[in-house]
Amino acid sequence: MLYKAAFDPLVPDRIRIALDIRFSACSLSYGDRRVLEPLTLTLSEHRIGVIGLNGSGKSSFARLINGLQAPTSGTVTVNGIDTAADPAAAARAVGFIFQAPQNQVILPVVADDIALGLTSRGMPKAEAQARTEAILDRFGIAALARRRVHELSGGELHLVALASVLVTEPDLVIFDEPTNQLDLKNRRRVIAAIAGLDKPAIVVSHDLPLIAGFKRVLLFHEGRLIADGPAEAVIRTYEAVAAGSDDDGAASTKPEAAQAAATRAEGAAC
Ligand SMILES: Nc1ncnc2c1ncn2[C@@H]1O[C@H](COP(=O)(O)OP(=O)(O)O)[C@@H](O)[C@H]1O
Ligand SMILES: [Mg+2]
Repeated sequence: MLYKAAFDPLVPDRIRIALDIRFSACSLSYGDRRVLEPLTLTLSEHRIGVIGLNGSGKSSFARLINGLQAPTSGTVTVNGIDTAADPAAAARAVGFIFQAPQNQVILPVVADDIALGLTSRGMPKAEAQARTEAILDRFGIAALARRRVHELSGGELHLVALASVLVTEPDLVIFDEPTNQLDLKNRRRVIAAIAGLDKPAIVVSHDLPLIAGFKRVLLFHEGRLIADGPAEAVIRTYEAVAAGSDDDGAASTKPEAAQAAATRAEGAAC
């Protein structure tokens, strides 16, 4: 089946940031359970999709890129930063929007939480507030500034999480299933925000129209990268894999809240 791209996949010329992610014989195990087979790969495209069945290793792959997870063997570098040797630098370089963005919030009020990402890095309060206002304006969510984060809708929450990540000016943003559980209106808002992003982005998603226009899509299956290429061809392989799989579709569960909090805490320590 062909998926019409959800937005114009042409990445604007204004993306000037060079991206150089290198996996060198990188594997990942949790205890004695191997979840990512050794992987050697270079990524430099400004929009990269990551697809695969539940439990195939997509989030683990993404977490390796911003140092939330250290490889069990091999290395991962992002623009020269070894993510295991310097996870704090990796976390600064790579913004991460969690599947459940409420997990990355520390302070209850939207503007305070966004500003915290800046003041914790040593920025004076007045400047942090001005930058927070500017980024809320940019996403058209200035009205949310004084709202309590836990009262926001899923789409609003994703936009707030994106604002709180972008305000710190990372080199790259990773989205882990950003449109999961969003209604059509909020899905459109989040997709527009990703499309308009002036940064490189890696998008982990089951929402195939969202990644349909990407020139580079990675397909994981049972911890292995089994296809890597333009979206159309890789989506075809994915459909064949899904049709032939006896996967029951059960969502994998993991302590995402703890990891999100750890990332913020790391940022705060920098
Ligand atoms: N922190 C963890 N501890 C133990 N096992 C985990 C952990 N995180 C993920 N897993 C397991 O690793 C495998 C890959 O998970 P994940 O990378 O989350 O896959 P996906 O994002 O594709 O659904 C799954 O079997 C999952 O249950
Ligand atoms: Mg996942």
